[in-house]
Amino acid sequence: MFKPVRKAIFPVGGLGTRFLPATKSMPKEMLPVVDKPLIQYAVEEAKAAGIEQFIFVTGRGKSAIEDHFDISYELQQTLTERQRQHELQMINSMLPEPGQVAYIRQQEPLGLGHAVWCARNLVGDEPVAILLADDLVLAEQPCLKQMVDAHVYTGGNMVAVMDVPREQTRRYGVLDVLRDDGKLAAVRGLVEKPMPEKAPSTLSIIGRYILLPEVFDYLGAAEHGAGNEIQLTDAMAKMIGRHPFHGLRFEGKRFDCGDKIGFFEAQVAFALARPDLAKDVKAILRAYAG
Ligand code: G1P
Repeated sequence: MFKPVRKAIFPVGGLGTRFLPATKSMPKEMLPVVDKPLIQYAVEEAKAAGIEQFIFVTGRGKSAIEDHFDISYELQQTLTERQRQHELQMINSMLPEPGQVAYIRQQEPLGLGHAVWCARNLVGDEPVAILLADDLVLAEQPCLKQMVDAHVYTGGNMVAVMDVPREQTRRYGVLDVLRDDGKLAAVRGLVEKPMPEKAPSTLSIIGRYILLPEVFDYLGAAEHGAGNEIQLTDAMAKMIGRHPFHGLRFEGKRFDCGDKIGFFEAQVAFALARPDLAKDVKAILRAYAG
């Protein structure tokens, strides 16, 4: 029996330069898709997968995220006075239990691998999920829940994967595949952001991981990889052969919300998935497409 996945890391220290000026004084993870910040989607997805402890790796200028998951007395008071039960219930239901959330600072932006390594003492000796809030997945069954369910059988390390057009491999961590049953791919190698002609496949990692605590030992070596950053992919690659390593083709659609077009598409898809908005949004889209 494998240890259950109870903890999740949310690396939220990134600068969000691709969304300037919106992100000049606001964390990119607070950008909303329809009416909910990206980070809240990620936290809800983790909760739905059974995660009990939430570890945010933050940086300077990210305190809005901490406030978002805290009590807001003034707002609650005002909503109570105005008898806005629906809104009150909404903001109360998103509050974590006391002690469920921890914040730790990544002092310098040295890469995703470094951000994850900053959380090592809070994770300890158990598997951990990692969710990148930029990667938003619209799915009937939340993406991380699909992974946790599969992980019960595979154990080891697991990443969520999807096929991308070959010319885009340089944006992703890419799998070298040993075996593939169409859903689970056994991994024999990983390359971070390969050029299309060098990519071992087009099966690419999206920002959902379940990793064994051994990853922290490899991250601790602090070797710099692609883009001169400490890469999570490089540390994961070192675990291949020592522990099972799988890519799960999740069911659902992933949006790259770190990119303007991906972010825009997410707005459309999530609005169309909302019964209270779909009709009006469709009418607007039709009018513009006309
Ligand atoms: C990171 C990872 C990469 C992964 C991607 C998914 O890259 O390093 O392996 O494929 O997230 O979004 P980033 O997008 O932070 O450059």
